[in-house]
Amino acid sequence: MTSVLQVRELRRSFGAVTAVDGVTFDIQPGEVVSIIGPNGSGKTSTLNLVSGVLSPDSGSIALAGRRIENATVEQIAEAGLARTFQNGRVFGTLTVAENVEVGAHSTLTALRPLRGLANVPVLRWISLLAELAVALLPTRAARSEQRRLRADVDQQIERFSARLGPRKSDPAYTLSYANRRRTEIARALAPQPLLLLLDEPTAGMNQTETAEVQRQLAALKAAGQTMLLVEHKLDLVMALSDRVLVMDDGAVIADGDPATVRRDPAVIEAYLGRRRERPARADRSDQSDRLEETESRVGETV
Ligand SMILES: Nc1ncnc2c1ncn2[C@@H]1O[C@H](COP(=O)(O)OP(=O)(O)OP(=O)(O)O)[C@@H](O)[C@H]1O
Ligand SMILES: [Mg+2]
Repeated sequence: MTSVLQVRELRRSFGAVTAVDGVTFDIQPGEVVSIIGPNGSGKTSTLNLVSGVLSPDSGSIALAGRRIENATVEQIAEAGLARTFQNGRVFGTLTVAENVEVGAHSTLTALRPLRGLANVPVLRWISLLAELAVALLPTRAARSEQRRLRADVDQQIERFSARLGPRKSDPAYTLSYANRRRTEIARALAPQPLLLLLDEPTAGMNQTETAEVQRQLAALKAAGQTMLLVEHKLDLVMALSDRVLVMDDGAVIADGDPATVRRDPAVIEAYLGRRRERPARADRSDQSDRLEETESRVGETV
């Protein structure tokens, strides 16, 4: 069986800081793998390397057997990877439906003829002209693709129907924070990605909102969606994950099923030892809450 994702000896430094230090892991089809670890341990940098936002200093990444460590963000998206961002990113002036539609863009063929040229700097305008021509005089294939696109968008919004359904035509800037994050997840799912990366999907959400997103992610997992999740809320991580990677100072210090990782002395030390050495970073006000939560959770097992 080909792994959905195969990461080998991935490294990336920023000056003197080695953000990702020899990270190796695999994700099999249908698996949910989570990365946990203290602030600054390299979780987001790992997602940025996998999604092409950053390029690695060394190491390899394969998506469904295809090497992507030197590919662009667009090429990686077209190869089947979608992601959400730690701080949440939606287009404020676009409606909820339009935001989700943007997510499906990488799957279009009839509406985006010559899209291969879009990655070639000098020839990019030819593919834009072709898109414009199809928009003005839609071919039969383009009309049918447009209908499919609308159906896909509705299907993604339906996942969050109680929250996003009534707001489908509202601009994203009018949404609550939690609804913006739901819109972002719906947009990431629109292209039906092989692999979905989620960076702290419940950050800033209250308990009820977090529980709701957890149920939605569990439903996605039951439907077979492969996911790589970065999350600080350990209850959610333990409930959803088939495997948990623990990062500290750029390296993976533990990798196993949730119950094993939770008992791992190196993990307990990474969370609790760190806290004794230096206090929570002042720029992350929610960090102390997370560590309190971690301490009580880890405390249950020691
Ligand atoms: N673009 C960048 N330029 C310089 N340093 C960076 C950059 N991105 C990340 N870093 C550094 O790399 C290290 C890892 O950061 P990263 O954002 O990956 O951590 P994280 O585990 O996602 O943390 P958090 O839980 O706070 O989101 C940190 O020391 C961070 O300051
Ligand atoms: Mg991060």
